[in-house]
Amino acid sequence: SRHLLSAADLDHAAAVHVLDVAEEMAATQRREIKKLPTLRGRTVVNLFFEDSTRTRTSFEAAAKRLSADVINFSAKGSSVSKGESLKDTALTLQAMGADAVVIRHPASGAPHRLARAGWTRGSVVNAGDGTHEHPTQALLDAFTIRRHLRADGAPTGSGTAAGPGSATGRDLDGLRVTIVGDVLHSRVARSNVLLLHTLGAHVTLVAPPTLLPVGIGGWPCEVSHDLDGALRDGAPDAVMMLRVQRERMSTAGGGFFPSAREYSRRYGLSAARLRLLPEHTIVMHPGPMNRGLEISADAADSPRSTIVEQVGNGVAVRMAVLYLLLAGDLGGRA
Ligand code: CP
Repeated sequence: SRHLLSAADLDHAAAVHVLDVAEEMAATQRREIKKLPTLRGRTVVNLFFEDSTRTRTSFEAAAKRLSADVINFSAKGSSVSKGESLKDTALTLQAMGADAVVIRHPASGAPHRLARAGWTRGSVVNAGDGTHEHPTQALLDAFTIRRHLRADGAPTGSGTAAGPGSATGRDLDGLRVTIVGDVLHSRVARSNVLLLHTLGAHVTLVAPPTLLPVGIGGWPCEVSHDLDGALRDGAPDAVMMLRVQRERMSTAGGGFFPSAREYSRRYGLSAARLRLLPEHTIVMHPGPMNRGLEISADAADSPRSTIVEQVGNGVAVRMAVLYLLLAGDLGGRA
């Protein structure tokens, strides 16, 4: 495929290949000379209509480490405030020559529109569209899970990443991943369910009924409303906590959020719930976190937390995606 718009764009072979190339990229980052000449002369535009810390900076780092030129655009402080449309913004940036456009937008489907309307000649990467998808987040999560739980010679429950390249070629077959919280607003949850399923993992979503989307029955996963039961009986290998997205709850169809105290009591990963987990289980969160709401400090800062490591893995995964789109072949279904 020329674009990465959805986790569903990747079939099994393509997903494993991206993870393997990301391993190679991570290996280069451990060496003294970090910068590769691969994308010299190419331009990557980061087109951010919604706030971001991790995704924007890691795409910038990834592009620069591949020697691409990077143009960072954020809607704040731009002519978007004067009413300029996505089309005109994209055409303006295309005139500066974009080989890849990494787009984050509050409207679900905006990256698809950009890719299909011909407003850019570059490859389009979805960096998060509304409540819809965030495929590179799912890739970095799968990469993190694979490193911890599928690396040859990595003792289960070690809580540390395995050596370089030792997970190469493997998928997540049979692993149990439990994703907890505000699924309704989570593009991370949707992309993870699609990608983890493609890679063979067994996914369970845990959420209050009011924070699940319509049509959840068609997703390739199980659904539960009982976190204690899911942690105790489900024996997950990875538990991924989702941010409660209060900023999206005022809009139509915004979901119901009882109170911070009630949510935390029923769906927060507390120190007590942490103790229900098997010894080898990793604790994940895409960030940004609401500490004390969906995740306790005990869980976020515990040795089994991979939260900071996920951010570092995001650079390697995004290097792989940019490299495969611009200089290789992403493969996949689209
Ligand atoms: N996980 C994630 O997408 O974080 P940012 O919103 O900071 O990019």
